[in-house]
Amino acid sequence: MIKKALFPAAGYGTRFLPATKSVPKEMLPIVNKPLIHYGIKECMNAGIFEIGFVTGRSKRAIEDYLDHNPELEFQIEGSSKEKLLEEVNEMIDKCTFTYVRQKKMLGLGHAVLTGEPLIGDNPFAVVLADDLCEGDILSQMVKLYKKYKCSIVAIEEVPKNEVNKYGVIKGKEIDNGVFMVEDMVEKPEVNKAPSNLAIIGRYILTPDIFDLLKETKPGKGGEIQLTDALLKQAKDGMVIAYKFKGKRFDCGSVDGFIKATNYFYEKDFKGK
Ligand code: UTP
Repeated sequence: MIKKALFPAAGYGTRFLPATKSVPKEMLPIVNKPLIHYGIKECMNAGIFEIGFVTGRSKRAIEDYLDHNPELEFQIEGSSKEKLLEEVNEMIDKCTFTYVRQKKMLGLGHAVLTGEPLIGDNPFAVVLADDLCEGDILSQMVKLYKKYKCSIVAIEEVPKNEVNKYGVIKGKEIDNGVFMVEDMVEKPEVNKAPSNLAIIGRYILTPDIFDLLKETKPGKGGEIQLTDALLKQAKDGMVIAYKFKGKRFDCGSVDGFIKATNYFYEKDFKGK
C-alpha cells in the first residue's frame, strides 16, 4: 500500500563541514556504505521500491551511487571484490530513483513539499537518511499504516536535556507504543517540552500533507517546519506517533556518526 518513499537530502550538513562542502552528508560512509544505502535497504525490506530524492547543489554523488558504473564493474569482474557491489546493484536493478532539486533550503517541510511531483496523490514514507535505523522500522510503520490509515511519525524517548534538538509530541497511548498525537512542538526549550518523546527521521505521510505545507508559514528558525503541518493534520484528523522497536543512530551529529561506525564495524566487519 505504501509504494513510494521520499528522501529529503538537500540540507547543507554544516555539522560535517568541511567534508560536506563537496560530499553530500547522505553519502558519508558508515564503514563502507553511505548513509543512503542503509535507508534504501530499509525501504526495500518494507516493500518500497519507488524512491524520490530531494537534492540540491553538490549532491550529484547520490545519483552516481545509484547507477551502474560499467567501467568499474568490468575491472573487478570475476574477482572476490565483485560481491562488494552486489547489494547496491540489487538496489539499482529493483528500485526506480527520481530526483528533484530544492532551490532554496527553506526547511524540512519545504523539502517535502518540493517532493510533491515525485509522490503525487499517494501515501508515502519519508526517510531522513542521517537517522540510521536498525530493526526495519519502516516495515513496522507500514504495518501500522494498514491499521490506522493516517500519517505516522516514529518517536523515541530521549534524555530530557536533549528535547531541544527534536520535534516533540504530546499524546495519548492508545495501544502498546502507539500514541494519538495531541500536540507537537519543534525544538522546544528543555523546560517547556510536552514530553521527552522525540520525532526521529521516519514518517509515513498521507498526501493531504502537501496542501497543509502550502499553507504553513515559516516557523522555528525561519524554516517551513513539517511538524507544524503535521500538527494541523493531527488537529483536523488524526496523526499517530509510534515508539518503534529497534535502534537509531543520529548520524547527523559527530557523536552518533561515530557510535554507528563502531556498531556496524563490530557487527559486520570485526574479525571477518
Ligand atoms: P538537518 O536539520 O539535519 O539539517 O535536516 P542539515 O542541513 O542536513 O544538517 P546540519 O544541521 O546543517 O548539520 C534534516 C533533514 O532535512 C533535510 C536534510 O537534508 C536532512 O535530511 N533538509 C533540511 C532538506 O532537504 N532541505 C532543507 O531545507 C532542510
